[in-house]
Amino acid sequence: MTTQAGKPQTASAKVDALEDAQLAQFNKRIAKSFLFAAGERDQSRPGRGNIVLGVDDPTAQALQGDDPRLRKMPEKPTLLDFFDYRWGRGEHMLQSARLSRLAGCDEKTVAACLLHDISLLGFIRSDHGWWGSQLVEPYVDEEISWAIRAHQTLRFYPDESVGYTYPEMYLRVFGEDFVPEPYIQEEYKRIKDHKWYMTARQITINDVYAFDPNVTVDMADFHDIIGRHFRQPDDGLGFDNSPVAHMWRTIIWPTRFL
Ligand SMILES: [Fe+2]
Ligand SMILES: [Fe+2]
Repeated sequence: MTTQAGKPQTASAKVDALEDAQLAQFNKRIAKSFLFAAGERDQSRPGRGNIVLGVDDPTAQALQGDDPRLRKMPEKPTLLDFFDYRWGRGEHMLQSARLSRLAGCDEKTVAACLLHDISLLGFIRSDHGWWGSQLVEPYVDEEISWAIRAHQTLRFYPDESVGYTYPEMYLRVFGEDFVPEPYIQEEYKRIKDHKWYMTARQITINDVYAFDPNVTVDMADFHDIIGRHFRQPDDGLGFDNSPVAHMWRTIIWPTRFL
């Protein structure tokens, strides 16, 4: 195989070309989780140019501390610090929280809406309900973490009694013939009659993707709710020896060698 300029193609270029051809045939959008791209880009500062590091130098030491492409986080980071230093505004969750408050939901439900896609925004996309629930579990009421986990499943199931229909967006992005996997079907059976069903259902009701362009939601509007419903550990998220501290540390240092 030769390049357009007529030079022989290197082995890795051939592999790249083959993979590109396979992907083109596959014809699906493949999204990367925050962790895959963190460092390559700084999501908290959109449009920021990246520093090119000496990654091609085989004698360079492996990165074990702060990634110089990301901002150094405070020693005892709070939940709000993760938005400021790593994730950016979290517009989708702010909009959901605003809608739930306007609808008169109780504070726990508003807090659940405010945090419901925390894993999509800043950790891992796949099974984001489960990961997001686990990230916050030690710091919130059990009802909140339960609802965050359950919302992922409930998004697939309509509930006419509260006017929730299968999302138009899912038809478009997953296709009309998409059927949730068996583990999601099993999860639905477990949660549909649960005492906190309606808390999770409220997340799905306020989980809209068409935002009002005339409305800007400020995180400061929800500082009071975070203060009352998120138990910020004194030692900082990542350093409190909780069962999920390592997950927060990975967000602080997403590119550490080990
Ligand atoms: Fe979600
Ligand atoms: Fe959402």
